[in-house]
Amino acid sequence: MNIERLKKIHRYSGIVLATFFLFHVINHLFAWGGPDTHIRVMNLFRHVYRFPPVEVILLLCALIQVVVGLMLVWQKGFRKNIYDLLQVISGLYLSFFLLFHIRAVLLGRYSWNVETDFHFAAWGVKNHPADLFFIPYYSLSVLCVFIHLACVHRQKMLALKITDAGGTYQQQATRQSVGIIVTGMVITALILTAFIIA
Ligand code: HEM
Ligand code: HEM
Repeated sequence: MNIERLKKIHRYSGIVLATFFLFHVINHLFAWGGPDTHIRVMNLFRHVYRFPPVEVILLLCALIQVVVGLMLVWQKGFRKNIYDLLQVISGLYLSFFLLFHIRAVLLGRYSWNVETDFHFAAWGVKNHPADLFFIPYYSLSVLCVFIHLACVHRQKMLALKITDAGGTYQQQATRQSVGIIVTGMVITALILTAFIIA
């Protein structure tokens, strides 16, 4: 398939997934209010993303994101600079994470018959030695979404050549992308700390 068409599909399913991700992150930040607050917020959001037509679209978008993302990597390779490399590496990690994460959530719900709420996710980060796997596993997932989107943002800014702040448009694009990655690091640390101490 034509690479521009693949990018377009990846962009649109990415918008759906990124919207869910935004609410997912807000939900996880509520772990600072304790498990019950996190669960209350999740129950509220579930009215939307567990509504069957919405959930089917969301899960399909996650699958499309991985398949089309891997096709983009296959076609474009690892390319030239650190940002291209970070985009591919974060995409590859997200492929691994999304497949295992969604499989675990669906198995939990339909096969193990457990409630896939705060306690389901927190078990892995609160118990040793499971934490050795689950803390980096969850941390990298959130961080990689921010890294991936920071690289996309840089690419788009370079194409637009906007210079409304100080410096060249290249410096501005790089500064903003680094800002997105640093924000991602702070949010990742906040979520994981909340899950560990809640
Ligand atoms: C949370 C999940 C993801 C989101 C929100 C997301 C979003 C995006 C967006 C918006 C673009 C820019 C497309 C464009 O307009 O040019 C992009 C590019 C890209 N994504 Fe993803 N993506 C995600 C996951 C993945 C995965 C799992 C892979 C698989 C390896 C991947 C690989 C790539 C590659 C290689 C590009 C560069 C395309 C290019 O410029 O040639 N992404 N991503
Ligand atoms: C700290 C990291 C994360 C934790 C602790 C976490 C936890 C959870 C939990 C507990 C569920 C079950 C929700 C429910 O039963 O209503 C879930 C579902 C899901 N998560 Fe995550 N998640 C994390 C990161 C991510 C990331 C980075 C993505 C990618 C965008 C993601 C995508 C999804 C999707 C698509 C579902 C399925 C929603 C559904 O039930 O239909 N998660 N996650």
